[in-house]
Amino acid sequence: MKIYTLAEDYAGYESPFLAQHGISFLIEHKGVKLLFDTGQNAQAVLYNMKLLGLKPSEIDYIFLSHCHYDHTGGLMGILKEIGRRIPVIAHPAIFRKHFVTKPHLRHVGVPFRREDVEKHAELFLTGEPFQISNGMYSTGEILEKEGFERMELEVYTLKDGRIVRDSLSDDMSVVIETSDGLVIVSGCSHAGIVSIVKHSIRLTGVERIKAVVGGFHLIDANDERIGKTIEAFKDLGVEEV
Ligand SMILES: [Fe+2]
Repeated sequence: MKIYTLAEDYAGYESPFLAQHGISFLIEHKGVKLLFDTGQNAQAVLYNMKLLGLKPSEIDYIFLSHCHYDHTGGLMGILKEIGRRIPVIAHPAIFRKHFVTKPHLRHVGVPFRREDVEKHAELFLTGEPFQISNGMYSTGEILEKEGFERMELEVYTLKDGRIVRDSLSDDMSVVIETSDGLVIVSGCSHAGIVSIVKHSIRLTGVERIKAVVGGFHLIDANDERIGKTIEAFKDLGVEEV
């Protein structure tokens, strides 16, 4: 299998690639190409694809790990470039209102309306785990969570006219079964990266973890949480991060 990084916060010194805040990976496994998240901007993703010799028309599926604009903002531009109605896989709650109020009210969820996305793609919205293609799975919603992995982002949604904390329950990851063990690809790991890894083991029945790839969202985590995460990765035998 191969994973190409198409969007990431850093391009690197003397790199010809464009960086942007956000994530986008192209996962290639057994002849299937899945675009995992779309960055916040399609132009940079498409530019990097061109440099790598990858054609948007060859993408079979798009998987959106969660609603955040830096993972979904490139969606429409990339769909137009793909030019076919391919499945877009995500959690059913992905189009909800999702906002911050500090330093000011700002929507940070999907920057498109569901109806507009449906004009260009087949939405496949489910929070259940399932096999997308041979050996490649959506984890579905992560229901069992480690006690130390609390979602600390101050984000909100609207429910019947009330402003309530949003737990980002739409956070889902992709798991690939390889001959060397599982490869787990996560967007932001708002569900908690250790919870995601343990869920992936239960889902597939495979205990060897070849690699965990993606955003872990531990930038503001305290030393205790980072320590517990490292301990858990060691206990689970995660080979590469
Ligand atoms: Fe996020």
